[in-house]
Amino acid sequence: MPRDFLYENILRPLLFKQDAESVHHFVSGCLQSSAPLLSLLPFKYAKKDLAVNLFDHALSNPIGIAAGFDKNGNLISALGHLGFGFAEIGSVCARPHGGNDKPRLFRLSADRALRNHLGLNGLGAETVVRQLINKSASLPYAVNIAKTNNPAIKGDEAVKDYLYSFTCVKELPAIYVAVNVSCPNTKEGCISEAGLIKTVLEEINRANNRGLPILLKLSPDSGDQFLADLIAAGSKLVQGYICGNTTTSLVGLSGEPAGIGGISGPPLKTANLELVRKIKSMKSAEQIIIGVGGISSGQDAYDYIRSGASLVELYTGLVYHGPTLVKQICEELSALLERDGLNLAQAVGSAWDSCKGLK
Ligand SMILES: Cc1cc2nc3c(=O)[nH]c(=O)nc-3n(C[C@H](O)[C@H](O)[C@H](O)COP(=O)(O)O)c2cc1C
Repeated sequence: MPRDFLYENILRPLLFKQDAESVHHFVSGCLQSSAPLLSLLPFKYAKKDLAVNLFDHALSNPIGIAAGFDKNGNLISALGHLGFGFAEIGSVCARPHGGNDKPRLFRLSADRALRNHLGLNGLGAETVVRQLINKSASLPYAVNIAKTNNPAIKGDEAVKDYLYSFTCVKELPAIYVAVNVSCPNTKEGCISEAGLIKTVLEEINRANNRGLPILLKLSPDSGDQFLADLIAAGSKLVQGYICGNTTTSLVGLSGEPAGIGGISGPPLKTANLELVRKIKSMKSAEQIIIGVGGISSGQDAYDYIRSGASLVELYTGLVYHGPTLVKQICEELSALLERDGLNLAQAVGSAWDSCKGLK
């Protein structure tokens, strides 16, 4: 029995008849225009037991909408009404960019997954900031910045590109700024030089006169040495890590061959949970982890939290399970915490035990 009968039996089959990216734009338009109406619908989790404080911002629950769903900050009036505790807007790049050639977003329905090769399409930092300033937010939000998708922008120019986006977004009332160094969909791919990433973080720190928390978004496809180098680079420069981005690995796919792009949804969960565990064992105690990848149930969220994530995010689950998903996840998560006699803070990292490692 589907958890959202109406969505999974009527709405989703209709939406899935159309091209995935067109449906995303259609749904985004509907959300944008119906924000006041959405506030009347029962999509929000009402209990207070999952409330959490993130960098001095009070969140109603720890479930966020992951970067990529609202790349340009069009939906901040609506996303809170779908029950999310926070939103991560972006990725926002310094310059406007149309992204890669279409079609570039595909459903892998047999795996409840998506493959995207969007290539950081977006309106550019100045426009996004203008849109965010002029909208009333229905939830606390963060902003994710990435390097403009252009392989000619490298070295010092790449540093300047990130810095320009940061300078634009730093005046916003954002919970944190995520620095995305793990997009697999640009011509140059993920940034693979830890030294360059350190310089980006140093320059951002220098410009960060408001003391905005900085998080680094990592890739599950990175090798252990590179991750260790990044954690060393970020030790004094970032307040946490987002684990993680989409994968270009095909492991976990049962359906058709995947093709080019990053895979999201359930096939990603094992790899990103593993990334959370690795980062938890390397980071300092004060730094936080946001877990993301294949979350579509309270158990999924709980798995990330017990492995060390203080908060979680999702994108693909919403596409497959519809607008009641966040409330369902909150209800299931609350029941799991009650079963184990833990509150949310106690559950973070509770799968670890100092003597035996991960349980
Ligand atoms: C269509 C699509 C676009 C995305 N765009 C971005 C992006 O611009 N920046 C980013 O950091 N992550 C982006 N992501 C990755 C998500 O933020 C998230 O890390 C990933 O999808 C795993 O979560 P999920 O399995 O819940 O979808 C995108 C994901 C999808 C599916």
